[in-house]
Amino acid sequence: MSKLFDLQGKSVYVAGHRGMVGSAIMRALGARGMKPLVATRAELDLERQEPVEKWFAANRPQVVIIAAAQVGGIHANKTFPRDFLYRNMMIAGNLIETAHKNGVEKLLYLGSSCIYPRNAPQPITEEALLTGTLEPTNEWYAIAKIAGMKLVQAYRRQFGTDYISLMPTNLYGIGDNYHPEHSHVIAALIRRIHEAKLNNAPDVVIWGTGTPRREFLFVDDFAEGAIHAIETYSGDNFMNVGSGTDLTIAELARTIADVIGFKGALVFDTSKPDGMPRKLLDVSKMKAIGWQATTPLRAGLEVAYRDFLAGGGRNNA
Ligand SMILES: NC(=O)c1ccc[n+]([C@@H]2O[C@H](COP(=O)([O-])OP(=O)(O)OC[C@H]3O[C@@H](n4cnc5c(N)ncnc54)[C@H](OP(=O)(O)O)[C@@H]3O)[C@@H](O)[C@H]2O)c1
Repeated sequence: MSKLFDLQGKSVYVAGHRGMVGSAIMRALGARGMKPLVATRAELDLERQEPVEKWFAANRPQVVIIAAAQVGGIHANKTFPRDFLYRNMMIAGNLIETAHKNGVEKLLYLGSSCIYPRNAPQPITEEALLTGTLEPTNEWYAIAKIAGMKLVQAYRRQFGTDYISLMPTNLYGIGDNYHPEHSHVIAALIRRIHEAKLNNAPDVVIWGTGTPRREFLFVDDFAEGAIHAIETYSGDNFMNVGSGTDLTIAELARTIADVIGFKGALVFDTSKPDGMPRKLLDVSKMKAIGWQATTPLRAGLEVAYRDFLAGGGRNNA
């Protein structure tokens, strides 16, 4: 696929560069010899428009990658609905509006798979957006993310700006969040199975039947996909980014146990809810522009576990 836009030589701002996705994008740009512009939250609060405008005026980025967001699970969404809706809308609105005012040439915004209706047909195509009821447990976050993606589309339609959005599947890898209550499935399983191994536990309990099927993408593969999309795609539609394959939670847990070297049994607590039976993205649009995931799940899990052992990620104590 030929390049429509060359990142080399451009001044790139990665918002949220210390997060899991932002730091993977930093690694991918660094591997290309690039040194993106960054600002910590203490230096630049993206929820406030005035500092954002001043920072853009002073730093003049030509490309903006938005990997900053208030992120969290079901419990956090339930407890802090205002934070998920307001903060994510402000981050998107401030950055996209200020990018436009400053003539930013290319902008990438990221959605989240919770934007899709709860009962979307599988594998989920981009066309499923806004065709049904959202999962109520994280609708605050989903509505802010949908608004962000729609803003990207609105600026393109009104001003012809070259802004795009991508919709990543569940990501894992270096820099994940290992919080005992707020982590995603892979980080949660790594922590629990690792602790079971350290304690010589005979088994580890996993919530649900183990039968739901889920898709996972190594975060460094996502970062490569993001750069590929920035350089080769310009269009009104957002695109799903995933590995294109799914597996059961039981298969995932067994692979993680194997990587960790946990020899005990995996016990499934069937009294706990399973969630949707399957969640897999249709990734044919990304394939059509010449990108696909390259890291096998087991290899990615080995990297993630090494990072966990080295104290990487957040809440990894
Ligand atoms: N992780 C996944 O599985 C996944 C899947 C699909 C989509 N995504 C999307 O990818 C994006 C990044 O996710 P992530 O997993 O990398 O999240 P993350 O690890 O929590 O990182 C988010 C980053 O945003 C920064 N941030 C939040 N609010 C800010 C503010 N007001 N001002 C400045 N910085 C702020 C945080 O700064 P601090 O370091 O100061 O906290 C953090 O560095 C999100 O849009 C998310 O929806 C992630």
